[in-house]
Amino acid sequence: MTEPQLPAGPPRHDWPARPEHLRMLASYRRRLDSSVDGVWRNVLDHAHLPWVHRSSFAAIELLEAGRDWWRACVTIAPASLAKTMVLELSVDRERLRYVTRTLEGVSAGAYILTQLSPVPASEARAHEQTDIEVEFWAPAETETVARLKGRGYLKLYARLWDEDQAMITDMLAADRLEPWRPAAGGRLRILDANTVEDGQRRLGLVERDGELFVHELVCPHMGGPLHRAELDGEGRLRCPWHDYRFSLDDGRCDRGAGLRLGCRRVRRVDGQTVEL
Ligand code: FES
Repeated sequence: MTEPQLPAGPPRHDWPARPEHLRMLASYRRRLDSSVDGVWRNVLDHAHLPWVHRSSFAAIELLEAGRDWWRACVTIAPASLAKTMVLELSVDRERLRYVTRTLEGVSAGAYILTQLSPVPASEARAHEQTDIEVEFWAPAETETVARLKGRGYLKLYARLWDEDQAMITDMLAADRLEPWRPAAGGRLRILDANTVEDGQRRLGLVERDGELFVHELVCPHMGGPLHRAELDGEGRLRCPWHDYRFSLDDGRCDRGAGLRLGCRRVRRVDGQTVEL
C-alpha cells in the first residue's frame, strides 16, 4: 500500500498556538484499534474526507501541504448548501498530538486538539491500540452557545471516528496482505453473485458488458474495500475511499503512480465455478 501522497512542502516548525479568547466546548475520548502510525496515516490523508465521510463533507480542494500538515478548502455536505471552510491540520509526532484549525468559513476560529496515547501492550488486546482525547475549542459568546456547539462536535466526531476506525482497520489489514498470484487455467469457486474463492483467498466477481472478471478485494492505493465496488461509465472499478478507478482489463489505475489491481477475465464453467 502507498502512503497518502502530499505535495512536497516544508515541514512546520511553528505549532499553532490556541488563541486565549476561545472557550473549551467539550472533550471526546476513544480507544482506537490502531497503532499511532495508523492514526497519522489516516489524518494526513486529507483526500478521503468527501469519500469516507461523505455524509459530512461533499468535496475537498487541497490548498497547500507539507510534511505532517495540510490546508484545504472543504465543502460541507450536502453541496447544495454551498457552505465551505478552510481547514488546516498539523501533526506534532514528537508530542503525539495534532491540531485541526478552521481558518475561514463555517466554524471559523475552531481549534481542535487531539492527544494520542499508545495503550500499553499489557493492557491492549491482541493488536495495537491508541487512546485519543480530543478537546474542542471555539469562539462562543455564552455558556449556552458553547454547550450547544460542544454537543454538535461530539455527535460529529463520534460519527467521523466510527468511519475512520473502519478505514484504519482495513488499511492496516491490507498492509499484511500479499498480492494475488493467479494460476493460469485455475478454477475458482463461486461463493455468491459478487464473490469467488481461490484457495484460501476471496476475490470480487463482476460482470461488465456480458464479460466476467475477478479482482482483488483490496485497493492497492491504501487498502480501500473493493467488494461490490461500483463500475464507472467506462467500466472501471471505483474505489470508495479516494475514487481511484481501475481498469478490469489490465488493472491499471487512472491516477498512474504505478498502482495495479490484480484482476483477470474469467469464463463461467458452471453455476459453481469460473475458470481463469
Ligand atoms: S484506497 Fe485510495 S483509492 Fe482506493
